[in-house]
Amino acid sequence: GDLSDLLEKFNYVGQSCKDIKERYGVKTDGLYYLQSKTGIIYETYCDMTTDGGGWTLVASVHENNLRGKCTVGDRWTSQQGNMDVVPEGDGNWVNKVTFGNAEGATGDDFKNPGYYDIQAQDMSVWHVPNQVLMENWKTSAIVRYHTNSKFFPLYGGNLYGLFQRFPLKYKGGLCKIDNGPSIPIVFDVGDAKYLREMYGPNTYAETEPGYVTFRVFNNEQAALAICSGVKVNACNSEHVCFGGGGFFPEASPRQCGDFAGWDWDGYGTHIGWSATKTITESTVLLFYR
Ligand code: G3P
Ligand code: CA
Ligand code: CA
Ligand code: CA
Repeated sequence: GDLSDLLEKFNYVGQSCKDIKERYGVKTDGLYYLQSKTGIIYETYCDMTTDGGGWTLVASVHENNLRGKCTVGDRWTSQQGNMDVVPEGDGNWVNKVTFGNAEGATGDDFKNPGYYDIQAQDMSVWHVPNQVLMENWKTSAIVRYHTNSKFFPLYGGNLYGLFQRFPLKYKGGLCKIDNGPSIPIVFDVGDAKYLREMYGPNTYAETEPGYVTFRVFNNEQAALAICSGVKVNACNSEHVCFGGGGFFPEASPRQCGDFAGWDWDGYGTHIGWSATKTITESTVLLFYR
């Protein structure tokens, strides 16, 4: 845009995309500047249309190399190897470290101050093929869904608060008794069955479609952060959940990394416990409202 477009963008003041939508009546998806409570100015993508809009992109979980097991780029688990002496891994779910940039969110991990700063009610999740350009995220997403139950205030107001209450730590609890909440979801693109069947066929007997689930443990007490699209009713959750702590004991180090054990029966094969290539090569975008 020209200079007046830029100046107009700086005229919006808000802590979230919801603030900007409500104050200025903005209805255009794209990049906006937000200001955190502590005064940090940052730029992120706002979805100003889905279900009335006001959704702030706060993070993306990108698996740059599923064959790299807790190696470089596995910021949502551990970049330090599969190590029981680092049970919490890199700790990015519960710290105020930020990384990446909004426009690059499908090319690498992204986390901005909104992740811990915005007090949210609901969450939206998009699975967008890696490297897709921002202007095409919405139309290219294989799946988009959101919660509508205003669950976040019960769990600390955002993911930062939720994972303080449900720590992601190897041996921090047991499957299934210590698993965190499963929240019903509403689909904007795709449907519950389609998303559930993106994971390995062997997982179907262990999941129930139509939910987003937080902090589960697997059979070996490894902690996983988010199970997108499913409630998990059994304990091989490393094949349907992503992110987590820093140690995954089973067949070490094969389940350690941002997309855990999604390649257990081969990369992108959709055989046994392996997910499809489509979801394996898509980035998970996390929004708050
Ligand atoms: O998570 C699956 C694992 O626990 C069992 O794998 O290859 O023996 O079916 P497999
Ligand atoms: Ca990896
Ligand atoms: Ca990553
Ligand atoms: Ca297992």
